[in-house]
Amino acid sequence: MQLTKEDMANLKDVMENWKNELLVYKFALDQMNTKFSIISQEYNLIHGHNPIEHTKSRVKSFESIVNKLARKNLEVTTAHAKEHIHDIAGVRIICSFLSDIYNVVDILKQHNDLEILGIKDYIKNPKENGYRSLHLLIETPVYLTNGVERVKVEIQIRTIAMDFWASLEHKIHYKLNNAVPELLTEDLKEAANIANYLDEKMHGINNEVDSAKKEPEEER
Ligand code: GTP
Ligand code: MG
Repeated sequence: MQLTKEDMANLKDVMENWKNELLVYKFALDQMNTKFSIISQEYNLIHGHNPIEHTKSRVKSFESIVNKLARKNLEVTTAHAKEHIHDIAGVRIICSFLSDIYNVVDILKQHNDLEILGIKDYIKNPKENGYRSLHLLIETPVYLTNGVERVKVEIQIRTIAMDFWASLEHKIHYKLNNAVPELLTEDLKEAANIANYLDEKMHGINNEVDSAKKEPEEER
């Protein structure tokens, strides 16, 4: 189903009605951002480094939601969007080291207010094109004036190197309209492997620094 400009104009009315419906996704992101800030600060106190380099979050635009529903051949309703589009609220967590990613996941698993609906580990099982990241789909309660709403949030957790690769790969697909020549696909895969090598090397160096820091104390 391809949407025309006219379809989009008619959808403007629908969009007005959606504004309030989409607000709850912003609230869910506000809550998640507070959670990640607390996790990072407290982890820093205990372990001496921030597991989270930085975070980015966004509510999917109305236009992207409509296009995704159209791709799925679904009528444009808020009910369909809430049920079938799982990344209306999205957070990206960028970590320094591979181990930080799994530590952040372990911490989130202990948050009883969150329900983890699914985990996709594209680090242990990278995508064919070389994409690596850990994706969590969670549901968080948002307390509103007239009750509580459970809101889905997609969390992508990755290292700086994985993020560097993913943003370049995304840009290349956008620039070339998804018609990426095979040679470039191979180059991207090679770059993904180099990024992974860098992640493992950095992880190893960090472990060595940690044990070097501990040793003098143990010798005393
Ligand atoms: P979507 O319908 O796109 O949400 O995919 P999905 O439901 O199969 O979920 P998946 O967890 O595989 O991917 C969700 C999101 O991860 C995408 O919207 C991207 O932000 C990111 N992603 C997944 N695969 C790739 C990839 O190959 N390259 C890049 N750059 N990002 C990716
Ligand atoms: Mg998506």
